[in-house]
Amino acid sequence: MTKITVKANGPYLVEGADVVDETGAAFPVEAGKPIALCRCGASKKKPFCDGTHVSIGFKSTETVAVFKAK
Ligand code: FES
Repeated sequence: MTKITVKANGPYLVEGADVVDETGAAFPVEAGKPIALCRCGASKKKPFCDGTHVSIGFKSTETVAVFKAK
């Protein structure tokens, strides 16, 4: 089962999935390890998180409770 965790003030943490480009070619990732995908837009290693979200002070507010309230 694929699981995507929306990290507070950080990346999407993806478990149990491959990451492919628009042609279907797979990005090299370590098998069996979670993958962190950038959602702040500032990573220099997109689509992966490189930790830049910390230095730019990326803040997120998404939670299930907020989503249900809309
Ligand atoms: S979420 Fe980590 S660099 Fe963008």
